[in-house]
Amino acid sequence: MAVYQATTSAPVNIACIKYWGKRDTTLILPTNSSLSVTLSQDHLRSTTTSRADPSFTETKLWLNGKEEDIKSGGRLERCLKELKKMRKERIEDKEPNAPKLSEWNLHIASYNNFPTAAGLASSASGFAALTSSIAALYELNTFSSVKPAASPSELSIVARLGSGSACRSLFGGFVAWQAGSSPSGSDSLAVEVAPQNHWPTMHALICVVNDAKKGTSSTSGMQRTVETSALLQHRIKDVVPKRLEGIIKAIQEKDFDTFAKITMADSNQFHAVALDTAPPIFYMNDVSRSIISIIEELNRVSLSKTGHLVAAYTFDAGPNAVIYTEEKNVKQIIEIIVKYFPQSSELTPFPDPFKLFGGKQP
Ligand code: PMV
Repeated sequence: MAVYQATTSAPVNIACIKYWGKRDTTLILPTNSSLSVTLSQDHLRSTTTSRADPSFTETKLWLNGKEEDIKSGGRLERCLKELKKMRKERIEDKEPNAPKLSEWNLHIASYNNFPTAAGLASSASGFAALTSSIAALYELNTFSSVKPAASPSELSIVARLGSGSACRSLFGGFVAWQAGSSPSGSDSLAVEVAPQNHWPTMHALICVVNDAKKGTSSTSGMQRTVETSALLQHRIKDVVPKRLEGIIKAIQEKDFDTFAKITMADSNQFHAVALDTAPPIFYMNDVSRSIISIIEELNRVSLSKTGHLVAAYTFDAGPNAVIYTEEKNVKQIIEIIVKYFPQSSELTPFPDPFKLFGGKQP
């Protein structure tokens, strides 16, 4: 008997223009468009195997080898429902000989090769790998070589239902997530801005400051920010549209200085918006802030000597730094970071104030 199984991987993506805030929390529709760089397949990634079989009595999920509950009406269920609908309507209803995979339960196993939920975008690669593995199992991307049953942008809508930033990991290279305006979310999808080979000298250095699970999840953090921050409204209306335009042009022209300036400014504004939330959210710690100072100083010296910047830092919802730099500067940046932070055991993460008092973070 035939085995219906597919394995695919999806890498992490790191945003240069941050997504922070939902206008629809069920469909995961963002308050602003965003842009990210998808890291290469050989580094931080999730790998998912999906199998459909008529003998499975229920759909099951294993994450890093541990079975997880599948919440009824939750994000995973919404993704599966959409993929089954696509399989049924676009393949099974049209091709009578196609096996009715959409009617069978699934067993799904996913692995991350890096710490989960530590501000390293594990939900992004996780839901992207899950979506692409089930899409491959259902032959949504391969059914017809002339016109696939579902395009990567359409599949990005499914990944978005799992975790917003996951939609961007369905593409490699430089990727924009267009916020869209439709209440159904049909135009809130990812598009490729430029493939990875457009700017092959661009590198991302990941500095793991702390790989513990983060204190405030992006879901609850975003909700609090949307409810309480006036700065977020200014950011959505007056700041992000201009930055997006600027960074897309910088990517097209491989203009590292503009790319770096916009990336650092947007990371800083995202963390300012987190601080403008009531109660405030602190994602960075003292080590994160030292990394900012080091890169700012390097850039200041380089600007005065050569007229150009050497690196850009960015931080997601956690203390870990991602440093974008061009190949010619990678060695210098690594040497400086290692000089200031010689051993990971010497890094002293900022203590969680709520844990100090034995209480719980809100
Ligand atoms: O998709 P989520 O819920 O993991 O949110 C991601 C939010 C940031 O990483 C902080 C920004 C972004 O655009 O990826």
